[in-house]
Amino acid sequence: MLTFDHVHFYYKKGQPVIEDLSFTIETGEFVAIVGANGCGKSTIAKLMDGLLLPKQGDVTFQDLNTSRPADLRMIHEQIGFVFQNPEDQFITTTVMDEVIFGLENIRVPREEIRSRLDQALQAVQMENYLESMPHQLSGGQKQRVAIAAILAMQPRIIIFDEATSMLDPQGREQVLSIMQELHRQGMTIIHITHHMEEVLAARRILLMDKGRLVFDGDPVSFFETVPVEDYQLELPFAVRVYRMLHPDMPLMADWKEMIRSQWSTS
Ligand SMILES: Nc1ncnc2c1ncn2[C@@H]1O[C@H](COP(=O)(O)OP(=O)(O)OP(=O)(O)O)[C@@H](O)[C@H]1O
Ligand SMILES: [Mg+2]
Repeated sequence: MLTFDHVHFYYKKGQPVIEDLSFTIETGEFVAIVGANGCGKSTIAKLMDGLLLPKQGDVTFQDLNTSRPADLRMIHEQIGFVFQNPEDQFITTTVMDEVIFGLENIRVPREEIRSRLDQALQAVQMENYLESMPHQLSGGQKQRVAIAAILAMQPRIIIFDEATSMLDPQGREQVLSIMQELHRQGMTIIHITHHMEEVLAARRILLMDKGRLVFDGDPVSFFETVPVEDYQLELPFAVRVYRMLHPDMPLMADWKEMIRSQWSTS
């Protein structure tokens, strides 16, 4: 359980970035965080992981509090982070080293490292690239290696901060299906994205506007009630087509069904 309790944050005093933000994400949820550029999504992600600390209020994960220095190591171990640009997260020269780097850091026993390495690379279908150099891979493959490195650490939550935004459609599709598979296995997934198609895969949407939470609910009620264009977001392609074909009809049963069908295939 990850909780924001009346969290306030600013980078510069007098210029609030996050204002009185409260929500709880339960274990196993698949949550999308959306909103216009600069509304505070990445700041929220960093607050979750304790990379930034609230100026007021608390961010807690189970009984750990990011404001308690002694808790931070555990928090970093249990909350994994996948960034927008996979290049930024590579530290070593081979796929294998990339995945085991973190494990050596936390002193996982040698026998266990091998099995965690194999499992993590299999989960992202990169087991045949052990000796490859990360920078020679495609964008989607790089992002899959970055995910494997995090999976190997066996976190409880993975935050994807615009992790699909630099990928081609195929890479995006692969990363999204890995998220769905991890969710099915019980991992808590937090997906920060501008892509409304991808939001359909989540079960819950948090919409941020200028540092405030303005919507918290499921995708059906999101597309039913939120004028997404007001937040620099576009309707999903299928919803746009539906509106074009049926300009006078409310967006009803059909597209709700479409959203639900995303869930049933996920
Ligand atoms: N290190 C920083 N120092 C000062 N201001 C910052 C810093 N990082 C972000 N900001 C500001 O805080 C606000 C929220 O930024 P944040 O990166 O959290 O937004 P975001 O929703 O992730 O945006 P995007 O969609 O562009 O990724 C913005 O006004 C941004 O300019
Ligand atoms: Mg951001």
